[in-house]
Amino acid sequence: MTTTFDPGSLIVLVGGSGAGKTTLATRCWPATWCLCLDDYRAMATDDASDQSATPVAAEIQNLLLDARLARGLTTVIDSTALLPHVRAGLLARSRYWQRPCEAVLFDTSLEARRRQNTGRARVVPDQVLISQEHLIPSARQLLDEGFARVTYADGLGRKAILAPARIGN
Ligand SMILES: Nc1ncnc2c1ncn2[C@@H]1O[C@H](COP(=O)(O)OP(=O)(O)O)[C@@H](O)[C@H]1O
Ligand SMILES: [Mg+2]
Repeated sequence: MTTTFDPGSLIVLVGGSGAGKTTLATRCWPATWCLCLDDYRAMATDDASDQSATPVAAEIQNLLLDARLARGLTTVIDSTALLPHVRAGLLARSRYWQRPCEAVLFDTSLEARRRQNTGRARVVPDQVLISQEHLIPSARQLLDEGFARVTYADGLGRKAILAPARIGN
């Protein structure tokens, strides 16, 4: 199955740690389209998990997000986006730039996230995985918040393709 997204849209990945967000983003979209909060934390502190750098990482992400949406460039936000106020901020930016905003929802089970978490270089503490469980929204909730469409991550095949990267010509 192939899922297409409107060119120039904002695509927000939503899911807990270890769900496979970065893996999917890397597989499906060019690196320059993907704004990854972990990368900016790592650049600021040499430690992608250093939460003290989240404010500066979010500032960088928002700067790049505005730069891209202003140009009509398709943009993927690779962060957990589990907090409603974070999603509201992203929706507000897409509205400001009049771009469609979609969510890709990772409703990956805790067991699967634990399994995948232990298999990677930077292991997230189990307590963090558990604390994220009750924050994972339903598709209905995301639609009610204002996302134009919600696609389940496991429904995105290997061939998930976007329409042209830029709005217009
Ligand atoms: N669909 C999948 N099936 C099995 N393992 C996966 C899958 N998606 C990701 N992984 C593995 O799980 C680990 C965490 O994935 P990652 O993309 O870093 O998660 P996130 O960015 O959501 O924290 C990685 O080692 C990755 O190779
Ligand atoms: Mg990641």
